[in-house]
Amino acid sequence: MTDLPTTAPEKDLALDAVVDLDVPGPTISRHLYGHFAEHLGRCIYEGFWVGEDSDIPNVGGIRTDVVEALRELAIPNLRWPGGCFADTYHWRDGVGPAADRPRIVNTHWGDVVEDNAFGTHEFMALCDLLDTAPYISGNVGSGTVQETADWVEYLTRGDDSPMARLRREHGRDEPWGVSFFGIGNEPWGCGGNLRADQFASLARQHATYARDHGGNKLVRVAAGASDDDYAWTETLMQQVAKLGDTEPRDLWQMVSFHFYTFAGTWGDKGSATRFSRDEYWATMRKALDVRRIIAGHSAVMDAYDPQARIGLALDEWGTWWNVEPGTNPGFLYQQNAMRDALVATVHFDAFHDHARRLRLANIAQTVNVLQSMLLTDGARMIKTPTFHAFAMSAGHHDAAGLPVRERAARATHDVDGTAVGTVSASASTKDGAVLVSLTNLDPDAASTVRIALRGQAVSDPVATVLAADDPAAHNTFDAPDAVAPRPLDGVTLDGGVLTVQLPPAAFATVRLTLAS
Ligand code: AHR
Repeated sequence: MTDLPTTAPEKDLALDAVVDLDVPGPTISRHLYGHFAEHLGRCIYEGFWVGEDSDIPNVGGIRTDVVEALRELAIPNLRWPGGCFADTYHWRDGVGPAADRPRIVNTHWGDVVEDNAFGTHEFMALCDLLDTAPYISGNVGSGTVQETADWVEYLTRGDDSPMARLRREHGRDEPWGVSFFGIGNEPWGCGGNLRADQFASLARQHATYARDHGGNKLVRVAAGASDDDYAWTETLMQQVAKLGDTEPRDLWQMVSFHFYTFAGTWGDKGSATRFSRDEYWATMRKALDVRRIIAGHSAVMDAYDPQARIGLALDEWGTWWNVEPGTNPGFLYQQNAMRDALVATVHFDAFHDHARRLRLANIAQTVNVLQSMLLTDGARMIKTPTFHAFAMSAGHHDAAGLPVRERAARATHDVDGTAVGTVSASASTKDGAVLVSLTNLDPDAASTVRIALRGQAVSDPVATVLAADDPAAHNTFDAPDAVAPRPLDGVTLDGGVLTVQLPPAAFATVRLTLAS
């Protein structure tokens, strides 16, 4: 048993905190580590799908190197086919013999031909290879309620029904299990430019006919707000509960919102790899704002659903930079630096702290688009710093959260009048171990963190760090391991008090063994 250190909180520590190992918080759903793959740029085509005749090694057209790398992340769910593309997607275009599938134009992303080579069967095969739960995003913007009903039936119905028969004609006998079904995407924008009340009416219809077939139980995710548009969330909550109700209607089981991080404006977001210190800190201030926004949506939901039966989903998040020079502006291809990894890890800490309400999150996007895990160049593939941040955090999946309580105000950096905390932390416990995540946002100074681990004895700290001399450091096809995890020295555990020296601009994890 560990006692609270009798020493006073130390001001020169960037973080001086306590974790009560015997007072676990809500479970951190593994689905907070979800991913997103849209028919956009080189995400699906080249990123995942190369076709069976490709020289790039593949299984049934899906590239092997990408699947093998992503399996290291234990991806819990994968959202597809969009994004904005989902609201132009008619699922029947992507089933049946490939030669018979229509060629359409991807009007939203680059105005390029979409030959529908990758459709429902290919996506479900990808989910099988990744051992991940499918999150299918339905078309509310330009699709019909009947299309929604039929797609769900095609995917999940086992007995003799029109859509089950069609699926069998296309070579698949057994129904698939589908975990999540999105009711629309950004309906306030690319998903139809709808008002909240208009969307709510449509969403009620689509959600009704997205049926549970056989044993398949869908989690329906109603498309939600942009950033801190809490009024949108309130409109959606009003459809399922009246103030004072304790049991919401079983219409949708989650409400989503989207939140992206960039340094500048939507018109000029900044470069992924060439940025000033001011831009760096502006990025971090923006990323940390996700805490306020999650808390704001949660507060609205608490009023209608105090028992948190309905989950909050952040089903698009991540950094969004100006595209790499010389690339198609409609393809959203960007490099990924140490800064991106730190944006990810401060999001993870916020997710852990809000795990009671936040149950699903999807970073945008998995390969070659926005804040990717992997970048490809023909047959070559590299892992990004963000990939490593996800890999190092996999131990938090389905673990019990352990709140990190500050004993003294943490160190801050002034960003245009806003005090931005320079250290972010979270912890969890699972399978007889404790995992502590620590982020030092300061790109110019090392930071010392002290955490008293109380309530149960711990031992054998094993620390790993992802760090770079420059927050703009990134991996390239010629230097694929410029930013990669390594063991971290300078970690002590003394009487249950963990002390860690974090290098500048670094993410570290410390795994400790719990005494049985
Ligand atoms: O992730 C890229 C795009 O960002 C998605 O298609 C859309 O939903 C959002 O605006």
